[in-house]
Amino acid sequence: ELIYNMKGLKDLGNQLKEKMGIREVSLVEGDSDDDDIIVKDMGKKASLIINSLLEDDMKIGIMGGTTMACVADEMEYNRKVRNIMVVPGRGGLGEKLEIQSNTIAAKLAQKLNAEYKLLHVPDNIQPELLEALRENPQIKSVLDEIKKIDMIVFGVGTAMEMAERRGMSELKKDELKLKNASAEALGYYFDSNGIPIMHTDSVGIDLKDINSIKHVICIASGKNKAEAIYAFSKYYKDYILVTDEETAKEILKLN
Ligand code: F6P
Repeated sequence: ELIYNMKGLKDLGNQLKEKMGIREVSLVEGDSDDDDIIVKDMGKKASLIINSLLEDDMKIGIMGGTTMACVADEMEYNRKVRNIMVVPGRGGLGEKLEIQSNTIAAKLAQKLNAEYKLLHVPDNIQPELLEALRENPQIKSVLDEIKKIDMIVFGVGTAMEMAERRGMSELKKDELKLKNASAEALGYYFDSNGIPIMHTDSVGIDLKDINSIKHVICIASGKNKAEAIYAFSKYYKDYILVTDEETAKEILKLN
């Protein structure tokens, strides 16, 4: 039965990969909505993938959120790679400490015996202030590292949940709804066609930079995220998706 399941999972992964048109899909069995263990399994799977792609002197960017926190927790220690640098993909002090990208980047760095740099910048900063912050030498040095990353590890959320979590103004939330916002990833909001429609007012990775990042790894699951995950795949395709069986089935049902 186990072998049957593994083959079933592989077929499901291939179907999803084909539908989304992305580089690779890696599935774990089960339903993360039902059982937290499944998120841990995804974290372990992501850890294996990250370690298999890591090379000396690489720079890694990682985002925040509960899924990324789990990836850092489940990350296997790797003492073989040398001179790794980990940076948060974005500031984002608005969220709870445990799921802030800074916390997660530091934890990941510890597992990889790596150096890290942190970004102490909140969400929702006025545009005029953002410009000034970008020029601050300390912040600029982290932004310069982000420009050079070889690997980005990130999650996807539903647009409205993320707007809520980041304490976005009602006005901006209305704008998101009006524009049919579906997904949030990397600090950007996308409509269901994968068109970027808004971005978070914080400093961090520039969306168009993912085109030049060698390894793009997305970990996201939950049936409520199916549309969001699918929407993001319409924006960008050269990445590895780690998700669970039930989310995969849900995405396959979408038009
Ligand atoms: O805020 C950081 C972030 O990675 C977002 O880009 C993403 O939408 C969200 O967190 C995912 O969070 P979670 O894993 O908790 O659903």
